[in-house]
Amino acid sequence: MKTRHVYSQRVGQIAPSGIRKFFDLIAGLDGVISLGVGEPDYSSPWHIREAAIHSLENGQTMYTSNSGIPELRNELSKYLKNTYGVSYNPETELLITVGVSEALDLTARAIIDPGDEVIMPDPHYVAYDACVILAGGKPVLVPTYEKSNFEVSAHDVEKRITDNTKAILIGYPSNPTGAVMEKERLEEIAAVARRHNLLVISDEIYARLVYGVEHTCFASLPGMKESTILLGGFSKAYAMTGWRVGYIAASAEIIAAVTKIHQYTIMSAPTMGQIAAIEALKAGEPDVAEMLAEYNRRRQFIVKGLNDIGLPCFEPKGAFYAFPSIKGTGMTSEEFSETLLTEEKVVVVHGNAFGACGEGYVRCCYATSMEELEEALTRMKRFLNRHGK
Ligand SMILES: Cc1ncc(COP(=O)(O)O)c(C=O)c1O
Repeated sequence: MKTRHVYSQRVGQIAPSGIRKFFDLIAGLDGVISLGVGEPDYSSPWHIREAAIHSLENGQTMYTSNSGIPELRNELSKYLKNTYGVSYNPETELLITVGVSEALDLTARAIIDPGDEVIMPDPHYVAYDACVILAGGKPVLVPTYEKSNFEVSAHDVEKRITDNTKAILIGYPSNPTGAVMEKERLEEIAAVARRHNLLVISDEIYARLVYGVEHTCFASLPGMKESTILLGGFSKAYAMTGWRVGYIAASAEIIAAVTKIHQYTIMSAPTMGQIAAIEALKAGEPDVAEMLAEYNRRRQFIVKGLNDIGLPCFEPKGAFYAFPSIKGTGMTSEEFSETLLTEEKVVVVHGNAFGACGEGYVRCCYATSMEELEEALTRMKRFLNRHGK
């Protein structure tokens, strides 16, 4: 009789997320400091929560339009125009999704045919290759290095283009490195995409979290709006991870394609979350500015602290991650993070959870209080001393 797995070959090809593993390990442990999870330590601003509470009081508990509440699409369209100078028709060029997570999955499923290749940087956010594989495609990795600020080079991308290449997937500011791509480097990627007629999927969930540099929206580069699939969301900048709201901004043709899948699989993003997102767009700017200033303070503190204890750390200009090198310890990144957790109860994520080029690094999320960061550094220093560093 034929042996059969209960799960599909595609599911068999992907590993469980290396980030989630740590949630399970620390569940039930006392005194743990987590620099592991990539989410703000803030609750959503009160006026955003209040807008959602009022919506419940008013009985707004039904499905919304598949594409998302029209007012949210209108506000989003205004926001993208005002912030990046790119115009999206709210009727046909925007789809409200269940976070960037759904946006990534829909995009991959809408554009990939079996065997299509999607070029992406290594290291990268854990869902990128998983979504491409689940859609029947093949991730093609482009190594990025600390010495070039973890920016992906257009030359290295171009070398990997084949007849099967469908898209380039980038995500800057980057999770896990905190790197921001300079506008000139992005323009070089855009030129490659134009030369080879490729789509560019640009995950800009951390767009608002940049320090002393400007974020360039990929779709705002000359001639790139039509071939860019812009993914964005509310989770990080507005501290709204649990509301599950994000979006895709793209050509009407792409939006029609992703909407077909969304209609059958999700129907509509959470109603209450969408109402909260309207409030975030209308009145959330002061909150973003306040949280950004605080993240910047923590960023400077942790980068200096890591360098001081002997873990050389590249200066991240975006997101809320520091990505220090642990190569001097002689441990693999997995040994380092597991031993640090066991001995000092500090959670960091081993860099190879994000791809082979992440080996030799660990990801430390600094969206946690200064007191916790200070204590984490004290424990890490003790750990390094104990291991002869
Ligand atoms: C780079 C990146 N993209 C997408 C996501 C998913 O975000 P969302 O909460 O919008 O689904 C995350 C979450 O950590 C992320 O870091």
